Amino acid sequence: MNNKDFFTLANGVIIPAIGFGTWQIPSGDIAYNSVKVALKAGYRHIDSAQAYGNEASVGKAILDSGIDRREIFVTSKLPAEIKSYEKAVSHAALTMKNIGLDYIDLYLIHAPWPWTEIGADYTKENIEVWKAMEEFYESGKTRSIGISNFNVKDIDAILENSRISPMVNQIKLHIGHPQEEITGHCRKNGILVEGYSPLATGKLLNSKEIAGIAKKYGKSVAQLSIRYVLEKGALPLPKSTHPEYISHNLDVKFSITGDDVSYLDSLK
Ligand SMILES: NC(=O)c1ccc[n+]([C@@H]2O[C@H](COP(=O)([O-])OP(=O)(O)OC[C@H]3O[C@@H](n4cnc5c(N)ncnc54)[C@H](OP(=O)(O)O)[C@@H]3O)[C@@H](O)[C@H]2O)c1
Repeated sequence: MNNKDFFTLANGVIIPAIGFGTWQIPSGDIAYNSVKVALKAGYRHIDSAQAYGNEASVGKAILDSGIDRREIFVTSKLPAEIKSYEKAVSHAALTMKNIGLDYIDLYLIHAPWPWTEIGADYTKENIEVWKAMEEFYESGKTRSIGISNFNVKDIDAILENSRISPMVNQIKLHIGHPQEEITGHCRKNGILVEGYSPLATGKLLNSKEIAGIAKKYGKSVAQLSIRYVLEKGALPLPKSTHPEYISHNLDVKFSITGDDVSYLDSLK
């Protein structure tokens, strides 16, 4: 892809091409300061979730930043364990209360199954929950809606039973884990893929193979790994609590050759 700064969702909403991840950033001063630092460094897209327990700190950092609210894209997520219409409605309201903003920009179903039952079939429940997501979108409390960790079958169940299609699918996508089947299916259906854990939660950082490729481009392993997600046509969500890493991870305007992308796809 080109070095563009934004993607456009199926409903025309503009989404900044790199998001700041906040999983495992403790609520309170650490989350507040990390988001403030990220906004100061130039991020205009913050990825949060009710399950991260830090929505209030994220919202406060955004409000205190002095940046026009309309310039910042904010995501939160319905907890994976919430699998009924009524609970989805009340948890969406809870997110709004926690985050303290008039609206959010993207609301996702965090996963198609509760975390204690990964892979279990919750198709019927997800269809019911999606109705609450559609209504939340129509209420204007969120500018877009989507899913996370959904595979092809899970995506199709929603597409076949919805009035409004998901605009985003947030999935684990990093070097060595290119997720071709899901990304291809999303592309075909106008769903933007967001790539979470672009550094494999830090596991890629010591890879000698990736370091060898990064060196060719005069970039770090972290930068090459984030750029790789963009080369796959997806939107990366790097996380850090260190100000130097937070800025460094935004400096990814370069291109990786097709041959190098294929090599990086194949790394285990
Ligand atoms: N939807 C889902 O189910 C789901 C699941 C997982 C993640 N996510 C989203 O994706 C985001 C990112 O994924 P992730 O949290 O797994 O981690 P990640 O971005 O893949 O990696 C973060 C780790 O890498 C370190 N790091 C970051 N930049 C670095 C740099 N330039 N140099 C050296 N080390 C660096 C961080 O250290 P420090 O923090 O110590 O600086 C942290 O340990 C999450 O925060 C969340 O928003 C979503």
